Amino acid sequence: MAARSVIRSTGSYLPQRILTNDELAKQVDTSDEWITQRTGIRARHIAGDGEPTSFMATEAARRALEAANCGAADIDGVIVATTTPDRSFPSVAVQVQSALKLKPGPAFDVQAVCSGFVYALSVANSMIQTNMARRILVIGAEKMSSLIDWNDRTTCVLFGDGAGAVILERHEDDDGRGILSTHLYANGDLRDLLYTDGGTCTTGTAGHIVMHGREVFKNAVTYMAEIVEEVLDKNHIDANAIDWLVPHQANLRIITSTAEKLNLPMDRVVVTLDRHGNTSAASIPLALDHAVRCGDIQRGQMVLFEALGGGLTWAAALLRF
Ligand code: COA
Repeated sequence: MAARSVIRSTGSYLPQRILTNDELAKQVDTSDEWITQRTGIRARHIAGDGEPTSFMATEAARRALEAANCGAADIDGVIVATTTPDRSFPSVAVQVQSALKLKPGPAFDVQAVCSGFVYALSVANSMIQTNMARRILVIGAEKMSSLIDWNDRTTCVLFGDGAGAVILERHEDDDGRGILSTHLYANGDLRDLLYTDGGTCTTGTAGHIVMHGREVFKNAVTYMAEIVEEVLDKNHIDANAIDWLVPHQANLRIITSTAEKLNLPMDRVVVTLDRHGNTSAASIPLALDHAVRCGDIQRGQMVLFEALGGGLTWAAALLRF
């Protein structure tokens, strides 16, 4: 059997500052009740000046290294999924590589917005399976607050900052563990549903998030239902083989709809968005780290990741943890 990639350890970082729904309701015309009912979000973390994306990514990676009892010399490469890099270049990945004193090796960012972590995981998996690397840090890190128009109540209540990381490593044992399949999609015709109204080579600024929420919502429900079906078909399994769904944390109603499609009770779905909102590419590794550290997700269990974001992009991965 060909070697697989397993998640050896996880880590995460959330900024100190917590912004609650009630605080936001003092700034824009909204309420805790509206935000909680429509999204499931109660609070989000907001990075301070000393917490750029590279800092959060590095801290999450440091915790993953500690959890794996790995040193810098054990890591062959770094892939960071982010849509909010500190600078246009160099990448966040090379900043992490330098901060952690890792040896020279591949280090680059992946930009697929909220699907970015699953895209990055898929790339790292391919690199491990083709013997380009043995152990890769895969990180999702975002400072979404840098793209927020704080006067736009339709978006400012949704997003937050943070980072999550995993160490993905080559696994030779024939015990069924590892990444079983990854599924990556984009439909650029839907790019105007969710975008920033700026960019370095057009406006010289990063711009702010613009979202047609209802349309994104409808597409998310449809694409998530389709992709989980594809995952089950490809792996010849029933939905009841899945121990944990770790979805992108954007809206509780989207998550519930995917769980219903899988006939999965909500106590097998990892939900953390109430505490940190939509952290884009960071949301799946943040939720995963939480579930692993509190002992919910155990070695050998079947775990499904799924996400949708700007582009539109959408993606899923099935793995035996
Ligand atoms: N507080 C109070 N009212 C608000 C509000 C807020 N923060 N934001 C929007 N509203 C209002 C709207 O103005 C609208 O008012 P109107 O009926 O008078 O025009 C009303 O609430 C309903 O707006 P709508 O956009 O239809 O709400 P919704 O039920 O679709 O919920 C989202 C809005 C954004 C929560 C939801 O569409 C969503 O989650 N979309 C997908 C988001 C997502 O997944 N994005 C990221 C993928 S990475």
